[in-house]
Amino acid sequence: MILRPQCVPQMPLMAAMQGYLAEQVLPFHTPGHKSGKGAHETLLQYLGQSTLALDLTVVPGLGDLFDKQGPIRESQKLAAALYGADESYFLVNGTTGGIYAMILATVGPGEKIIVPRNIHRSVMGALILSGAVPVFVRPVVDTDLQIAMNITVEAAESAMLQNPDAKAILLVNPTYYGVVADIANITALAHQHGMTVLVDEAHGPHFCFSHDLPIQGITAGADIVVQSTHKTLGALSQSSLLHCRRERVHVPRLETMLQLVQSSSPNYILLASLEAAVTQMKESGALLVNQSIDLARVARTRINKIPGLYCFGADRVGWPGIFDFDPTKLVVTVSALGIRGNEAEIWLRRQGKVQAELSDANNVLFLVTLADDEASMEQLIKALTALSQEYADEKRKTTVPFASLPEAVAPLLLSPREAVFSSQERISFVGSAGRICAETITSYPPGIPILFPGEQISLAAIAYCQALQRQGFSILGPEDPTLNTVEVVA
Ligand SMILES: Cc1ncc(COP(=O)(O)O)c(C=O)c1O
Repeated sequence: MILRPQCVPQMPLMAAMQGYLAEQVLPFHTPGHKSGKGAHETLLQYLGQSTLALDLTVVPGLGDLFDKQGPIRESQKLAAALYGADESYFLVNGTTGGIYAMILATVGPGEKIIVPRNIHRSVMGALILSGAVPVFVRPVVDTDLQIAMNITVEAAESAMLQNPDAKAILLVNPTYYGVVADIANITALAHQHGMTVLVDEAHGPHFCFSHDLPIQGITAGADIVVQSTHKTLGALSQSSLLHCRRERVHVPRLETMLQLVQSSSPNYILLASLEAAVTQMKESGALLVNQSIDLARVARTRINKIPGLYCFGADRVGWPGIFDFDPTKLVVTVSALGIRGNEAEIWLRRQGKVQAELSDANNVLFLVTLADDEASMEQLIKALTALSQEYADEKRKTTVPFASLPEAVAPLLLSPREAVFSSQERISFVGSAGRICAETITSYPPGIPILFPGEQISLAAIAYCQALQRQGFSILGPEDPTLNTVEVVA
């Protein structure tokens, strides 16, 4: 079957894929299903022959993900121009792969990198791979909402002054909850200290398309930025973009690391989806993103009128740890209803027929994207109104006990890599205080690690994990998912 996408001139990869299919040559190459002919009938039925035909591979004319020229490179150049980067790269292992590559390209074994405590687990994965030593900066915790916000300029600067030998700082722009730090100021300070600025912008690929959104990392002067194009824009899951500025980045090393962490058989459907998402944003990014901002603004106002619900917004900007925020992320605090966020999430799925992005002790997060419209927002408001009515009965209200995040950052006695590759033993978790943790222990969502490999386990961390488990939150990361036991350094 020959596909005829209409916007091919701006889509060099799609054009090359279409050209190859138009030749109608008999494939004697991977993938083995050969345009779906060898696929299971259920897969063929679900995806359709035209989709499976696009599952191509590195044949002459289509280019390789790591080629210096060819259609993928051409398409990446268009992405760089749109985002204002010197170089942009397509990623097929999500932002996770991009974070691995940017850290591996920047900090080596034993070298320091300043990172916020509320990093995504992919950052810890990168630290284990590289052998770098993290210097943790504690984000401000909003004790009402029980959400880790972002880091302050003061905390970042203090870490830089205390660790002038750090090679880089990593910023999260924005957090899962849409909260950003003063990234432009922190970037300028880091550069004064000779540090490279790396940005996990998984949740911000739409930032540069509206003046009503926080500044994106590349515009703020950051050196390498990774965005999950699949999270808030139109690319398929696992499709992300890495952007960089050349000044402080050794680009050939970055490219080597991108090869190291990614497949030699990239999925061309994912690559084509990245190209399509970039083209879509070039054509109508401002319109689409501003529409979603407007929808979210109206929804936020309406949610704040529903009894028992609160959705933070501009009212909290300027509070410690909230330099700015992304209005398209609706963080709905449900604690005044006397229920927990995860209970609300389940109720909303079953009764309201809406599925949230995540929930935690007090909050449920909803993402508004370019796919939403007035009808979808109406359904969300209807479901939230019903939730409020369901729990309006005063008798049901109880103070919901929630776990408090441990105050202090535990001392790091070994680098994460040293801890993971050390000889280890499995002991009872409750009796592990004082020992060096050899695993990552995360509460997910929102994916904020409680214990990292190399950290000394504290009584506070044990109590926090137990409280989370009692409240029904899942603990991810340890080999023993019950957390009755933990792997420690022997
Ligand atoms: C803050 C943050 N960084 C990085 C990632 C990893 O992104 P991806 O799923 O594209 O690999 C996530 C995923 O949820 C995230 O929330």
